Amino acid sequence: MSGIVGYLGTKDAVSVLFEGLKTLEYHGYDSVGVAFLNDAALRVYKKADKIAVLEDELNSIEYHSQIGIGHIRLATHGSPVDVNAHPHSDCTGKFAVVHNGIIENSHELRSQLERKGHHFVSDTDSEVLAHLVEDAYEGDLLAALRKALEPVRGSYALVLISEYQPDCLVAARKNNPIIVGLGEGEYFLASDLPALLPFTRDVYFIDEGEFVEITPNNVQVIDSDGNPVAKEVFHVDWDVSVAERGGYPHFMLKEIHEQPQILRNTLGSRIKPSGDDIILNDIKLTPDEIRSFSKIVITACGTSYHAGLVGKHLLEKWARIPVEVELASEFRYRDPLLDPSTLVIVISQSGETSDTLAALKEAREKGCRILAITNVVDSTITRESDEVIYTWAGQEISIASTKAYTAQLLVMYLLALLFAKERGTMTQDEIAVITSALQQVPGWIEEILEQEESLREIAGHYHNCNDFFYLGRGLDYAVAMEGALKLKETSYVHAEAYAAGELKHGPLALITEGVPVVALATQEDLLEKLVSNVRGVKTRGGAVVGVSLGQSDLVDETCDHVFRLPKAPSFVGPLLSVVALQLFAYYMSCARGCDVDMPRNLTKSVTVE
Ligand code: F6R
Repeated sequence: MSGIVGYLGTKDAVSVLFEGLKTLEYHGYDSVGVAFLNDAALRVYKKADKIAVLEDELNSIEYHSQIGIGHIRLATHGSPVDVNAHPHSDCTGKFAVVHNGIIENSHELRSQLERKGHHFVSDTDSEVLAHLVEDAYEGDLLAALRKALEPVRGSYALVLISEYQPDCLVAARKNNPIIVGLGEGEYFLASDLPALLPFTRDVYFIDEGEFVEITPNNVQVIDSDGNPVAKEVFHVDWDVSVAERGGYPHFMLKEIHEQPQILRNTLGSRIKPSGDDIILNDIKLTPDEIRSFSKIVITACGTSYHAGLVGKHLLEKWARIPVEVELASEFRYRDPLLDPSTLVIVISQSGETSDTLAALKEAREKGCRILAITNVVDSTITRESDEVIYTWAGQEISIASTKAYTAQLLVMYLLALLFAKERGTMTQDEIAVITSALQQVPGWIEEILEQEESLREIAGHYHNCNDFFYLGRGLDYAVAMEGALKLKETSYVHAEAYAAGELKHGPLALITEGVPVVALATQEDLLEKLVSNVRGVKTRGGAVVGVSLGQSDLVDETCDHVFRLPKAPSFVGPLLSVVALQLFAYYMSCARGCDVDMPRNLTKSVTVE
């Protein structure tokens, strides 16, 4: 998640921009940039470096400025190099724009603009915005922005300035936040509240589809049809640390709530609008190469390993290719049977995990092609791999991984569909049925988030229990492992996941009166078998929390508590049930008074063996 700041007033704009951007450093970033009007001439300075470095550079330059825009970037489209940093300009250098979000049809728009003679300098999706505005400008910046955004699909919070109107800032919002700060004779714009708090506590929250025009004495907000909107001033009384968490008590809860937006961004730009094709431009594997692999080995640690387990099910089912999943810490010492016809997929949120990196090196020595799925651009694992797919989840601050996991899962779904298409194991119509369900997932997750109170209540009921079992079959078993891990790390509760059919082979001896069992029941074809395992638990006095897809009489009748996910096809079960398990772990942690975001003994990036 990148960060935006804008300013129009009487102070030195550049100092305000840097002060605001520094409050957003907790987002994580790799590049910084500012654009301002120096006596009506547009100047842009940007660098793939720290804010302080660019600030030092500007300190040695003469300028005068009372209006400007600034940005910190965490790379998604295009690596972290100077030219990819924001602000981006058009061909004439008269416009500059900063953007958060993803322009889904940037490739198509870029080709159209190039055919019209526009010259692009960066690899980013955002640069198209500056060129679209250049084309649309006929003397009114706000009108040009509205026209420029007409063909744009995707998500954006953006702010634009131009030499043509040196006393005007315009902004727009779609699926990414933008906030106006109201000062005395000065105005601010920011993507996040902490950037406004050093200057003002009176703000307008800009709503979906609205546009903003700021001039020296006025803020005008209009809706998508151009009608003026009367905004109410909101007085912020949060302290900075609450504002950094977006008003949530913990980063973990904030990150759980970010999942719909992250998945929407990924789906929009990685599924063709027709729904029957997958766009994974990041990888360069040819269809012939995809067909030539004899097997896939997925290796990772912790939560990322659990994403790999789901990936195995999907790849084997849809693309009919054998897949092994192995803990990186084991794989590296096992002298695994690999050859150049094996594709090795390494999954790592941080891209720095030492065991995963060692497993990667082992696979490379054996001549395998390496595909990394990571969240951090230019991390060590991305540099060591042949192919990289980024998960675009933004910086994850809470140690317990949530949004990075669902983003990894989504990439596994898309990769399995791509392989199925290229290997001819699914028709385009079959793929379209799955992508259409995937596109509904963000909305279904929002429905789950709306019911989080009931998960808080269930956690309240069980928070004194010190041993939990998580059961599931098929895809549910993979998610059960992730649910158990979330509970262990956030709540310091012993939790074990079992394939439900294994229960009778030993673990059932541990089920006595009141022992809590979380039963995942999202796999329609395995439901009766799962319920019969749950009955075995009930007979021994266990207390069962069922997680079903929609209403299920079988689950309702057998379980003590039931959390109903929205009715959805079983194959998307993992993307939904895990959100319920994340919230359950979160509320267990709160109820037990644990340090939610920083569990004891754990670190975010495990760079030791
Ligand atoms: C659990 C968690 C860890 C990581 C594991 C691998 O919530 O975050 O289990 O998944 O340490 O880390 P990455 O994905 O960075 O390689």
